[in-house]
Amino acid sequence: MHATLMNQDLTLPRRTTALSLAFLATATLLVASAHAQTPVYLDPTQPLDTRVDDLLGRLTLAEKISLVHADSKFTTAAIPRLGLPRRWLSDGPHGVREDVGPDTWNPAGHTDDFSTAMPAGICLASTWNPDLGYSEGQAIGQEARKRGKDIMLGPGVNILRTPLCGRNFEYLGEDPLLSGTMAAGYVRGAQSQDIASCVKHFALNNQEYQRGSINVEVDERVLREIYLPAFHTVVTSGGVWAVMGAYNQFRGQHCCHNDYLLNTILKGEWGFRGLVMSDWSGVHDTRQAVLNGLDLEMGTDRKYDDFYLANPYLTGLQSGVYPMAGLDDKVRRNLRVLIATHVLDPDRPSGSLNTAAHQTIARRVAEEGIVLLKNENHALPLDLRTIKTIALIGENATRLHAHGGDSSGIKAFYEVDPLDGIVKRAGTRVNVIYSEGYRKGGDAALADRAVAAARAADVVIYLGGLNHDKGFDCEGADRTDMKLPCGQDKLIQQITAANPHTIVVLEGTMVEMGAWLDQVPALLQAWYPGMEGGNALARVLFGDVNPSGKLPATFPKQLSDTPAFAFGPSAYPGVNGTVTYAEGLLVGYRWYDAKNIAPQFPFGFGLSYTTFAYTHFKLVPTADGVTAQFDLQNTGPVAGAEVAQLYVQPEKPGVPRPLRELKGFQKVYLSPGETRTLTIPLTRSAFAYYSPDQKSWVAEQGAYKLLVGGSSRDLPLSAEYQLTETTQVK
Ligand code: BGC
Repeated sequence: MHATLMNQDLTLPRRTTALSLAFLATATLLVASAHAQTPVYLDPTQPLDTRVDDLLGRLTLAEKISLVHADSKFTTAAIPRLGLPRRWLSDGPHGVREDVGPDTWNPAGHTDDFSTAMPAGICLASTWNPDLGYSEGQAIGQEARKRGKDIMLGPGVNILRTPLCGRNFEYLGEDPLLSGTMAAGYVRGAQSQDIASCVKHFALNNQEYQRGSINVEVDERVLREIYLPAFHTVVTSGGVWAVMGAYNQFRGQHCCHNDYLLNTILKGEWGFRGLVMSDWSGVHDTRQAVLNGLDLEMGTDRKYDDFYLANPYLTGLQSGVYPMAGLDDKVRRNLRVLIATHVLDPDRPSGSLNTAAHQTIARRVAEEGIVLLKNENHALPLDLRTIKTIALIGENATRLHAHGGDSSGIKAFYEVDPLDGIVKRAGTRVNVIYSEGYRKGGDAALADRAVAAARAADVVIYLGGLNHDKGFDCEGADRTDMKLPCGQDKLIQQITAANPHTIVVLEGTMVEMGAWLDQVPALLQAWYPGMEGGNALARVLFGDVNPSGKLPATFPKQLSDTPAFAFGPSAYPGVNGTVTYAEGLLVGYRWYDAKNIAPQFPFGFGLSYTTFAYTHFKLVPTADGVTAQFDLQNTGPVAGAEVAQLYVQPEKPGVPRPLRELKGFQKVYLSPGETRTLTIPLTRSAFAYYSPDQKSWVAEQGAYKLLVGGSSRDLPLSAEYQLTETTQVK
C-alpha cells in the first residue's frame, strides 16, 4: 500500500495504462534518445526520491514554477518535453464531481462525467466501519482513475463544532478519533488506486459564515486535542499525499499560508512529505505563500500567470528575494506525489465506473449509516404482510440530493429516491400513496392533502428534514437556526394526530425535534444517503437490513444547549472578524457531559432491531498500555451489528479534562444468540492530554475508568486502570 511510502524511499512497482504509456512513449523518445537508456525518473525500479531528484534536476525554472500553480480550474500544466502529463484534480469527497469548464465554475457540459454518488461524509461516519470507509475510498479511487483524475479533493475532517455549519454534512462528526479513523480508512482505499487523496480543510474551518476571512482564536491545547488529531491520523496512519489549506485565518494568518500550521506542525512535527495545496482562492499573499508552506496554488481569481505563486514568485526568485531551495522543496513535493501515484509508470490502473460493486458499496454505506433513533413497541421494521396502504409524505421522498451542496455534489448515474425505493420494495400488493406535504413556499392545501392521505393509510412514512438549499446543508453559508424548515414541525403534529402509526425519516443534518418527537413511535436519521439511498432506506424500513448506524455527533435538544452558542456571538459566528473557541475542549459530547445537559440523542447512539449484552469485562496489561476485553452477545431474535465503544475517564486529573473521551471502538456482526469476545487495545497515548508547556502529550499517572458500551451515555461495563508513572507520549 502506498501509504507506507510516505516517509520512506522505496522502490515502486511497475504499472501501465494507455495514458501513461503514451506519455512514457513520448518521454522515452525525447529523453532516451539523448541518454540511450531509460532516464532514472521514468524507471519504476528506482527509489521514489531518487526519481524525484532526477526529474527535478531536468526542469527549467519556468517549468518548476508551472508545477506550483494551476493552469485551469482543476489542472496544472503538462511538461511534454519530459513526458509529464497535465495533473487533474477533482472534488470530492462523495464521488468524482462533474467537470467544469477550464476557467469557470459552470459545468463543462460533458456527457461522460457521471459517477457513483456515495452517501455524504456524515453518513459514512455513522457507519463506524473503517473497512467500509476503505471500500468507499477504493471505489472512488477507481472512478477517479477512469475519469482521468490524479488528485481527489477529500475527505473533509473538520470537527462539527456547531450544528449550524453549512458543511457538517460533508464532514465526519464531532469526535477526533472517529473522524480520523474513518478518514484514514477512506484515504488508504482511495490511494490504493494510484490516485492521491487530499484531506481538507486544514485547519479550523468549522463554519461557513465569513469562511474566507474569519480569524479563529483557539488555545494550543484545544487545537491539539480537538481540531488537529483527525488530520494527524490521516497524515500518519492514512499516509495521505495531499493536504488542502482552509479558507479561514488562524491566529491572524490565512491557513493556506499559515507558518505554524503548515511548516511547524504539518511538515515539521508530523513529517508530512506530500504537497499542501490551497483551497480555491484561499491564497492572499505571495511572500506568505512562498515561505509558509504552500506547495500548490489553486483557484485564485486572476489570470493563471498572475497567481501569487506564478509570475510574482518568479520575479522574486530571479531577484533573489526568495531562495531557489524553497521552490525546489515545493516542486519536489509535487513530483513526489506524481511519481508515488505512478503517473509516469507503465501499468497504472485504468479504473472503472458505476460497476455493480460500486453501487453495492454506495448502498451498504447508506444501510450502515442510517441511524435508528427511536423504535417504540417495535414499530419498525414494517411488516408488508399486514400493510395494505402506506402514505408516503414529504418533499424529501422525491427530492434528489446527490447533485447538491456545492463542491461535493455529484452528477450521479442515477439516484433512487425514497419513493422509488419504497414502491419497488413494497411490491404490487401494497398501495403507496404519495403526498408532498410541504415545500418551500407551499400552502395549507398541501398539508391538508397530506393529512387526508395519512388518515386513509395503515401506516405513514414521513420523509422530511433538510436539503442542500443555500442556508441549509450547503457550502458557503451556515444555518441560522436548528429548526425544521417549511412548517414541518406543525405538519408532523397534524399527521401524527391523523395517524399515530407514523414513521419519521429525516434527511440532512441535525434539527430540533421537541415539537413532535413524543408523538412518533419511530424515527430514522437517513442523512444524505447517496444514489442508492432509496433502496437502502427501504431495506431498513422493511427489515431486510438491521440498522447499525450510530450518531457521529450529539443531537442536542435545542440550539441554545450547544457549546458554541453558550458563549455568545464572539464564540459563534464571531465578532469583528474573529471567532473565539471559548468552549475550549468541551466540543460535542464533551460539553453535554461536563454541563450535565441531556441531549436529544447522545453521541454514539443508535438502536437496532435486536439487542446486545455486554459482559465479562477484563483489563489485560500490555507492553505499552492495556487491552480492554469483554464479551458482546446478540441477545435478540435477528442478526445485527453493534458498535462497541470504549471511553477513558480520568478519575482525578491534575489538569482540567473532559469527563470522558472515546478512545477505541469496534463494529461486529453477530447472529442471534452469538457471543464474541472483543479486544480493544489502548496505548499510553489514549490517556494523554496535550501540555503546551512541555510541548508534548503527557500521560499522567493515576486512576482511570475504562467504560464500554453502545453509546457515550450507555456504558454498562466499567473497570479501573492505574497508570503508575507520568510519561510523555508521541
Ligand atoms: C471548497 C473545497 C473544494 C474547492 C474546489 C472550495 O470552495 O472549499 O472543498 O475542494 O472549492 O471545488
